[in-house]
Amino acid sequence: MRDYHEFLEKILISEGDIQARIRELGAQISQDYLGRDLVLVCILRGGVVFMTDLMRHISVPHAIEFMAVSSYGSGHRESSGDVRITLDLKCEIRDRDILVVEDIIDSGHTLSSVLEILSTRKPRSLYICTLLDKKERREVDVPVRYTGFTIPNEFVFGYGLDLDEYYRNLPFIGVVDLNRYKSD
Ligand code: IMP
Ligand code: MG
Repeated sequence: MRDYHEFLEKILISEGDIQARIRELGAQISQDYLGRDLVLVCILRGGVVFMTDLMRHISVPHAIEFMAVSSYGSGHRESSGDVRITLDLKCEIRDRDILVVEDIIDSGHTLSSVLEILSTRKPRSLYICTLLDKKERREVDVPVRYTGFTIPNEFVFGYGLDLDEYYRNLPFIGVVDLNRYKSD
């Protein structure tokens, strides 16, 4: 595996900026869910780094759950409306307050399908918290309650987001130089 410096175009969001924003989101969520029955639903695998940091800034009691979905798109880095659950929740969510935690919204297909599936189980509330939003790429409308950062249409990695399953551990969000990444 190559060192990421070989194809890192630039750091888009620094570790310090991510952590500062997560503190703000955690404080807001703690206020909004006072007295509620909050369940954070992490969408694997990209959402896992974000959720584990975010939950440590949420002061109200809450449970965590995991869900994995796969989507079959037209291209390698595209997703489509054809989204399937590959790992389902272990708990009932009926009458509970569900907050879906995701790394990034791109076309919106993944989260729109996740919302559709979860809403059939009749939670009391169902909202989304995403670290990143590539707004200009949106193909289907998805209501987002909490957004960390709105970013331009560039392929990013680090902090949970992968490049072919690697580099999720990096503490910052970087932009990949796809030409240099591909030429190995
Ligand atoms: P959507 O269904 O198009 O909204 O795609 C969302 C999923 O695509 C995310 O959960 C990511 O796994 C992946 N994705 C979208 N953009 C990027 C990116 O820039 N870097 C890494 N993964 C991405
Ligand atoms: Mg993902």
